[in-house]
Amino acid sequence: MSAAATVETLVGVMDPNHFSFRTTFEKLLAFLDLHIPHGGTVHHLTTRRLKSRPYDVLNAQCPYAAVINRGAHWNQHFNSYLMTVSLETYQLNNMVSFHSIDKNTGYGQMFKLGLKVPPTVAVPQQDYSKLLEGENIKPDLIFDDHEMFDLREIGEHVGFPAFLKPQSGGGWRGVERVENFEEFVEKYNKSGDTPMNLQKAVDYREFVRTMGIGPQMLPMHYNASAKFSHDRYLRGNGRAVEHNFLKPEEHDEASKVCKIINAFYGWHHNTCESLIDKQTGDIHPIDFCNAYPDSSLTSLHFYFPEMVKNMVRWIAFVAVTGRKSGFTFTERWPEFWDVAKRADREGWPYKTRIAELARIADDYFEAPRFRDFCAQHLADLDERAFEFFSSPTFFEIIHDKVYRYFKVPQEREAKHAHYAGIHNFWVHCEKERLSALKTPASRPPVGAAGAGGGPPGQPATPAEVAARRAETKRRVASKKASGRSRATTSVLGRKLARSSPDKKN
Ligand SMILES: Nc1ncnc2c1ncn2[C@@H]1O[C@H](COP(=O)(O)OP(=O)(O)O)[C@@H](O)[C@H]1O
Ligand SMILES: [Mg+2]
Repeated sequence: MSAAATVETLVGVMDPNHFSFRTTFEKLLAFLDLHIPHGGTVHHLTTRRLKSRPYDVLNAQCPYAAVINRGAHWNQHFNSYLMTVSLETYQLNNMVSFHSIDKNTGYGQMFKLGLKVPPTVAVPQQDYSKLLEGENIKPDLIFDDHEMFDLREIGEHVGFPAFLKPQSGGGWRGVERVENFEEFVEKYNKSGDTPMNLQKAVDYREFVRTMGIGPQMLPMHYNASAKFSHDRYLRGNGRAVEHNFLKPEEHDEASKVCKIINAFYGWHHNTCESLIDKQTGDIHPIDFCNAYPDSSLTSLHFYFPEMVKNMVRWIAFVAVTGRKSGFTFTERWPEFWDVAKRADREGWPYKTRIAELARIADDYFEAPRFRDFCAQHLADLDERAFEFFSSPTFFEIIHDKVYRYFKVPQEREAKHAHYAGIHNFWVHCEKERLSALKTPASRPPVGAAGAGGGPPGQPATPAEVAARRAETKRRVASKKASGRSRATTSVLGRKLARSSPDKKN
């Protein structure tokens, strides 16, 4: 029998804005040197950066089995190239839905499916005068056919406190919390030519930001009160991360909510911001049309390696199995609607509703086939990736990212110690997790972490949670006995950073 031929299966990478993500993905894939047999061929996975270059429009070629597209919406040259070759390859994300679905479409449609979006009213822009200022006024851009509306009625319908925020926003630009009607009027009168939403504020005890990559969901804690966006994934002052910050059922629900949204819109890389109500424990998604999610090391820190591994698994799966992008992203909407209608008619409990919706999402993402693929071809990915993430190569990426991101020279050294320290804590936790997996009692099924599981310390099922809690208790007890602290802090971070293999530190 002759040996199967090896082909180079190319993954195109484009991410102008996130040095750490693209570099880590490329270097990790090169380190893994994956050779995956499929359909009588062995696929050797390699990457190539999508660079700005001329191309023959009438004969546009696509050498990539898959493309990670993070940024073409900012550059027409890339956007038109990727749309031209779209049927020949797999692209993450689906730019058709990315361009056509905005925040409000998301709120309205997900509420109709039955997700717990808070009451939201869209309010037309307050001021059109800017449109009249230019030299070339286009009368057809002035929507002068207004209907009078009553802000008081809108305020009463939504309720206070509330958030007044742009209908198409990002990065918290123009977002204002308003405590009462007077503040609403005051802020609305300053909102200018931006169409706004008034959304009821959720009084929450937990802010969860779930990142979905294919069917893999990674719920992360999020601290909205941190001043800088790069500090928001820290647990709080002096504490980087808290394992098991969600109860297993909350982990499950937040994951399902994100997976349903992502499957509905065909987004294979997206985040969903959800707030867990203080009183009711309900999980409310409030911002989830983020199909270009922040994936930077300086934001995600402890969660970053897990996110990159999830991307490697998913991209390997789609590239090797030849999945193509679905551009008709509305194809499965009738199935979702049917479930929602049946749930309304028959009065299903919320859990049943989202379990059924998530079933369609799993089918859309080919979750069982993906799980099998991971079990068969990537069973040692965690172990191999651990080698990479604990090597000087990755510590150099941390160093370079920190020195690129933080512009004030005096703060770079401390920031570097902070991030290297948190990563050393990840190395410590992951080492323990991997060695615990080797003990038969706590071993999850192969591939479980890939398809449904969360980050280290957040197993997928309640049984695993119980097993791991018992294991954690045992370890905490033994650490206490040896005088070590369990939680990471900046201080611990700095101490660990000193033992970093990064020579530059
Ligand atoms: N309904 C809400 N309840 C509580 N907090 C909210 C609500 N809406 C927005 N916020 C707060 O405002 C921030 C920005 O709002 P968001 O809708 O996420 O806008 P952006 O798209 O700019 O990120 C959120 O991260 C959250 O802290
Ligand atoms: Mg947001």
